[in-house]
Amino acid sequence: MSDHDDTISSRISPSCPPETQRVLTAAWAHDVAAVKKLLDTPGKASAQDPTTGETPLHAAIRSCGPPSEEDDDPADLDAAKKTVYELLLWGGIWNDVDDKNETPGCVARRLGRIELYNLCVEAGVRAEMLFGLMEGYEELGSGGEEEEEDDMEIVEMDADDEMVVVVGEDGDEAPELVNIEANGQNPTTGEEKEEEDAAEQEQEQEQEEGETRFQPPKSDTETDVNSEAYLRSKLTYSDGKLVDDDGNGVMMAWETDIMRQSVDALLPAKEPGKRILNIGFGMGIIDTMFAETVPSRHHIIEAHDGVLEHISSPASKFSSSWEENGPAPGAYKVYRGKWQEVCRQLLEEGQLYDAIYFDTFGEDYAQLRMFFTEFIPGLLDSEGKFGFFNGLGADRSICYDVYTKVAELHLTDAGLDVDWKVIDVDMSHLAEAGKGEWEGVKRRYWTLDKYRLPTCTFLG
Ligand SMILES: C[S@@+](CC[C@H](N)C(=O)[O-])C[C@H]1O[C@@H](n2cnc3c(N)ncnc32)[C@H](O)[C@@H]1O
Repeated sequence: MSDHDDTISSRISPSCPPETQRVLTAAWAHDVAAVKKLLDTPGKASAQDPTTGETPLHAAIRSCGPPSEEDDDPADLDAAKKTVYELLLWGGIWNDVDDKNETPGCVARRLGRIELYNLCVEAGVRAEMLFGLMEGYEELGSGGEEEEEDDMEIVEMDADDEMVVVVGEDGDEAPELVNIEANGQNPTTGEEKEEEDAAEQEQEQEQEEGETRFQPPKSDTETDVNSEAYLRSKLTYSDGKLVDDDGNGVMMAWETDIMRQSVDALLPAKEPGKRILNIGFGMGIIDTMFAETVPSRHHIIEAHDGVLEHISSPASKFSSSWEENGPAPGAYKVYRGKWQEVCRQLLEEGQLYDAIYFDTFGEDYAQLRMFFTEFIPGLLDSEGKFGFFNGLGADRSICYDVYTKVAELHLTDAGLDVDWKVIDVDMSHLAEAGKGEWEGVKRRYWTLDKYRLPTCTFLG
């Protein structure tokens, strides 16, 4: 039984300003003509009831209720789709959250309104692709420097999907944009951005190019993780997890099956003698599995002093004796530093790998994209395979679906074909924040029972 009250009287509050009430009511009724008329003023499509956080997109989706064979009128569903489409066209924000921490897409998914959910996903993909384009433009202009929890499978992952970038009629307003950190760090709404600007500016000064460019819906306990602060933090290895001094889970033992299946995908035949590069040691789970295949080259890149200390300890499999006992000098090696620097060195040395895995922490999607766009073409053998930990937006289905698609489009741009294998995640000990596997971990960064495992190869 849902604890959501989806009635109009609970969602459009009596204290809602009349202008916002009008657009919310028209969207709720799927009155496309009235909606169009009311959207003539900028900002109307994203107006929010100040008490419930209801936006016109929430209203248009929520009023459909769950599908019902008896009551569903195809004409009304059609009107709902048109309303949603119109709202998105006029700047409706796909990832604004209401007072129940639901985006319009979350409401559609909860209600089982798949077509409406997919419209929200598509809007998210367009927004993020447009953001990527704008970011690229800004970089060129800056002087040429380097720069929820059910089992519905909803999003069409067909790589032939056409992308259409939609902007407001005057072409100068970008949709609300999000960015999702590569190890499942949560997105925040743009609305929260202003409030956090001061804190962020401070962080930004400490950061390298392009990091932490966005904020998504936040829980009370959450704080932003950024790479520089993370790399300075004190780490603790304990009880099947690695946490930083803020209690963020850097790596957790429940991901072992994902690591196992990633190795299986990258090295299906497990032949010895392969050349392997792993970025991000963490708990050494995947490196232990890679080592078992007896590679001819096994390079690890790790930047955190605490992790490097752990690697050097006599109990570690990857201490100096592992390096010394490699099949050739330098064949087994832990590179101490950030991949952003070490990979340049590897490129200069002309190193090539059969399998490359990327799983860092505290870095955003822009870093992952930079890795596969700028480094994979030079480091991966033409027949090689590249994989990464796909934790983008994994605390919210819609964000996960948006980022799967965005990553796929960017991978294609980078000349890579991606195969997604959907694997089950055992949620029995992961279902509740602060409990089970999450005990002692500040934020539940994974909430989904399916993981999309990417395996990338060069196109053609
Ligand atoms: C999620 S853990 C990797 C877990 C690993 N896949 C395993 O199986 O245990 C992420 C690791 O990336 C490292 N890291 C974060 N940023 C990095 C960077 N820029 N360069 C190299 N390593 C980085 C972290 O210190 C951490 O050890």
